[in-house]
Amino acid sequence: MTRKILVTSALPYANGSIHLGHLVEYIQTDIWVRFQKMQGHECHYVCADDTHGTPIMLRAEKEGVTPEQLIERVHGEHSADFRDFLVAFDNYHSTNSPENKECATGIYKALKANGKIATRTIEQYYDPVKNMFLPDRFIKGECPKCHAKDQYGDSCEVCGATYSPTELINPFSAVSGATPVRKETEHYFFKLSDCEEFLKNWTTGKLSDIAPLQTEAANKMQEWFASGLSDWDISRDAPYFGFEIPDAPGKYFYVWLDAPIGYMASFKNLCEKRGLNFDEYWAKDSKTELYHFIGKDILYFHSLFWPATLEYSGYRTPTQIFAHGFLTVNGEKMSKSRGTFITARSYLEHVKNPEYLRYYYSAKLNGSMEDIDLNLDDFIARVNSDLVGKYVNIASRTAGFIAKRFDGKVKAAGANSVIEMMREGASVIAAHYEARDFAKALREIMTLADRANAHVANAAPWEMAKQEGLEANLHQVCSEALEMFRLLTLYLKPVLPALAAAVEEFLNIPALDWTNVPNGLPEGHQINTYQHLITRLDPKQIEAMVEANKESLQQAQAPAPQGKTEMTNQAASAAEATEQTYISIDDFTKVDLRIARIANAEHVEGAEKLLKLTLDIGEEKPRQVFAGIKSAYDPATLVGRLTVMVANLAPRKMKFGMSEGMVLAASDERGGPFILTPDVGAQPGMRVK
Ligand code: MSP
Ligand code: ZN
Repeated sequence: MTRKILVTSALPYANGSIHLGHLVEYIQTDIWVRFQKMQGHECHYVCADDTHGTPIMLRAEKEGVTPEQLIERVHGEHSADFRDFLVAFDNYHSTNSPENKECATGIYKALKANGKIATRTIEQYYDPVKNMFLPDRFIKGECPKCHAKDQYGDSCEVCGATYSPTELINPFSAVSGATPVRKETEHYFFKLSDCEEFLKNWTTGKLSDIAPLQTEAANKMQEWFASGLSDWDISRDAPYFGFEIPDAPGKYFYVWLDAPIGYMASFKNLCEKRGLNFDEYWAKDSKTELYHFIGKDILYFHSLFWPATLEYSGYRTPTQIFAHGFLTVNGEKMSKSRGTFITARSYLEHVKNPEYLRYYYSAKLNGSMEDIDLNLDDFIARVNSDLVGKYVNIASRTAGFIAKRFDGKVKAAGANSVIEMMREGASVIAAHYEARDFAKALREIMTLADRANAHVANAAPWEMAKQEGLEANLHQVCSEALEMFRLLTLYLKPVLPALAAAVEEFLNIPALDWTNVPNGLPEGHQINTYQHLITRLDPKQIEAMVEANKESLQQAQAPAPQGKTEMTNQAASAAEATEQTYISIDDFTKVDLRIARIANAEHVEGAEKLLKLTLDIGEEKPRQVFAGIKSAYDPATLVGRLTVMVANLAPRKMKFGMSEGMVLAASDERGGPFILTPDVGAQPGMRVK
């Protein structure tokens, strides 16, 4: 059955550059969308720039341009960044658009008619020099708890305390430096407290067949409900860059009111371009699917404000919200001083190939809200070993024979057992993609690539080519290798769309989709000349990128604070409060522990601590592992022993060669390392679990 699916990613703010953190989300969403399209579903992927709010207004002023000029320039930059990372939106719009104004105004009026809007007079800090009310992030002062100077109005970066700006000692305006004064003003509120019953039912999946939230997100909701929902302040006073509230001169919609409506507006704009039916996707009784991909920091907005807004203004609610975790680089928060706050553009300048990053993120993304780490050494090793060493290798070793010896014509790839197994993998791989467990999908695909490589290595076409009378065998083996390569390409296509296009060109076949799994190349099919498909990633490129991002620090001005303040902090501290000390069984089973026979052990010249081990875990080729156990073991005594190794640790290039795993050993101040030995009867290759 063809599904009708509308997908969004969060709308990036229009006052900053896209960086590698953002790309986690856009790449994740893009892969999922491409997968749905390859399944033959009708899937629309829309996004837009989030253009309103005080930070953007002030940023434009600082640059001496109008907000409209600023957001237009940034729209161009963002669009180019996404295009170059192969993020293929069906539409990339703007929240400062006529469609968004129309939708936001309509929604507000409907909420008001439903009795969900209230006004209240509040007291807020006001900058008497700049003549404007100040968002919390634009007030600074001394922390009321630890007395650190120069802290923001909502939280202290030194001691982590959160507070209201009126608690700051010696407050000053970050805009003008003036001492702010308290001033009364009338604000508009969305009565979220009125929506509690609906939201409890919605978030817990009582109103739908599929639970709209991941388990972790649903748990977070429970905490938020427990602390009570307060009404949501949706207005801001002039001067403000945004949409004026109907019948309320000088009052504007708070940026977070019209931002998610931007999803709708972008789709509306797409409908105008393509003649799609807007109501089919947004009307209350819609049968289509609606998914929002977001970061965990903006869960509150998407799982509370947004469904409530939609419900009480007469629209459908989202089918599911997919939240992901945050990016760390080398295990730490992205940092300008360490050079790990890397913009999309800077990556492209140094590394060039966006598909390396798409591949690496996919290998880490599992559909949960866990943070994901970009370990730069692991990144290089992973890309080189999987993409160059395993995948492309299959074609680069065999394509030349077809061209040179057989006029570029293949034999029909009969279904040998490896090809059959590879075709049978299609449904499992599809299920992992569907569940956004790209890590599992790739592991499955790389296992197939290993089988394909082993098959080719066994047949050794390069040996056949040297002998007389083996022409037919050579032709068959190389044709089968290309069929395996075709299947791997199909499976990897959501992640590596440009590489897949190059392979389609090389194999001289139409664009691959999921229905093409059984369609091997027919007898006599003419392929094109094999062109170099991918280059090894050189560690120097990464070093240069990190250096460049360190240098640009001095020139770069500190980024203007963003528009999401109150709720973000609430979300962040809630996330911290539930920091886990246990791991789940799923976490544990990610570690592939195997019984290994130490086939050989030897000293390494120049290495103080390492022994080089050759480990047999029942694979075609034994693993080479460098282990820091030289101080405790004479290599000769190790040969023939059984031990336990981590078999799925990413291969790591060390000074003395590749290390393809890790052996386990115990130690502390009482001694060691002591390597492990299994009980009698264990055999090389057995899984330890
Ligand atoms: N403008 C709002 C979203 C409005 S949606 C109606 C916003 N913009 S943002 O530019 O700050 O972030 C855009 C998306 O990128 C968010 O989903 C955010 O979680 C994600 N990420 C931003 N930095 C990130 C990391 N370091 N790591 C992973 N995702 C990150 O929020
Ligand atoms: Zn403090």
